[in-house]
Parts: sequence; structure tokens; C-alpha cells
Amino acid sequence: MLKIHLKIQRFNPEKDSKPWWGEYDLEAEETDRVLEALHNVKWYQDGTLALRRSCAHGICGSDAMRINGRNALACKVLVKEAGPKITVQPMLGLTVIKDLIVDMEPFFESYRKVMPYLVNDEDPGERERLQSPEERARFEDTTKCILCAACTTSCPSFWATSDYVGPAAIVQAHRFIYDSRDKAGAERLEIMADKTGVWRCRTAFNCVEACPRGIEVTRAINEVKLAVTMGRVP
Ligand code: SF4
Ligand code: F3S
Ligand code: FES
Repeated sequence: MLKIHLKIQRFNPEKDSKPWWGEYDLEAEETDRVLEALHNVKWYQDGTLALRRSCAHGICGSDAMRINGRNALACKVLVKEAGPKITVQPMLGLTVIKDLIVDMEPFFESYRKVMPYLVNDEDPGERERLQSPEERARFEDTTKCILCAACTTSCPSFWATSDYVGPAAIVQAHRFIYDSRDKAGAERLEIMADKTGVWRCRTAFNCVEACPRGIEVTRAINEVKLAVTMGRVP
């Protein structure tokens, strides 16, 4: 068993005037992830600890948080790699609702803004809309996004101006702008050209480092910038 010291940023707006550090000693298995350590605290030491999680397998995107100062999914970080002293904080740039839970509504508002759905009113005929492997490959990477917000909340431009749509929304825009079946590219490029859009990105690269799905976020952003500049998908 590993001995772990967990330092968790706590904050309950109903009774705390400011955030404070909760410190917890616990034992963990070699195979435990930070999520198990947080469960250990919640289930056996302090049931008031608040956090989001669901799948525990890096799929749902609900447990993104700052672990040792870097955004990550708690269910993907092994305590033996992060420890023995581990610091856990909520993501930056979004309002803390309680402890590790932040208000995701502004994040999803930006997501909705880019029209994250296929637009095509043409009759698909008797079969599905066909696409060549090459056409599919153009947006393969950006289909992997799980909307965890780790990229957007690690972006200095988002911290500075929270009306910036952020890298996650641009990744979603890319996924449809570069889809040959979609017909709303021009509209999305207009949204991306807005002052809250793609030009707010200053190529800081934090988003790439934070993405738990290994998406080449800055490459996608640059491709959207190129499409905005040309006024069409190149
Ligand atoms: Fe999360 Fe990566 Fe999607 Fe950003 S691009 S929301 S980091 S999965
Ligand atoms: Fe932000 Fe990523 Fe651009 S961290 S500034 S969106 S390269
Ligand atoms: Fe679903 Fe971690 S709990 S991604």
C-alpha cells in the first residue's frame, strides 16, 4: 500500500468566506487513480466533499480538475505517479459551486454557440450520406472530444477574457466545418471570425497539454483560422 497525503481546495459558498485547504492522509493501492483517493476521502473521512464523476474510465469527461497544478481527469491519473503528496483544485476560470464542482454553464453556452450538430437539409436518398476515407480523416481527431473543459480552463486567453469561446468550442466547430456532409460551414466561420472567436487564441499550447484525449487542439485551431482567413474550407 502507498501512503498518500491529499490536499484538496475546499469551498462551500453557503458557509465559507474564502477557499481553504483540506488535508487528508490515506492509503492507496498501486493501481489507484486520484479519483479513488477522492472517493476514499468522501466515503471514509468527510462526506461533505463535493466532486463530479461518472464513468471512471476517461469517457464521460465529468471529473476534470487541477491535479498538482495541471488540468487532468482524476480517473486517469495514477496516485503512484502524482503522489505521495497530491494537490487537487477545481478548474480555473469557471465559478466554483462547491469544492471541486464548477459551473459549466458558460462552457456549454460557448459549445452551443458553434452549432455543434450536422446541418444538411438535402435528401440523403435511400442510403446514408457517403463520405470518402480521406474526407472522414480531415476531422477524425476532433471527433474524440469528450467536452471535459480541461483545455478551455487551462487557456490564459480564456482566463483573461471569459467571453472567448475557448479551445473546446473551436474543436467542436472544426469537427463540423471540416465535415464534407455539413452545409453550415459559412455560418460557423462567421461565428469563429467574431471578436470572441478564434483570433483570441494566442497559441499558448496549454490546451494541447491538458487534453486527456490527445487531440491536437492547436492544429485544429490553426485549421479553423485558415478557413476563416480564406472564407471557406481549404
Ligand atoms: Fe476535453 Fe480535449 Fe475536448 Fe478540450 S478538446 S474539452 S481537453 S477532450
Ligand atoms: Fe489558449 Fe490553446 Fe490558444 S491554450 S491561447 S487556445 S493554443
Ligand atoms: Fe468519466 Fe473521469 S469519471 S472521465
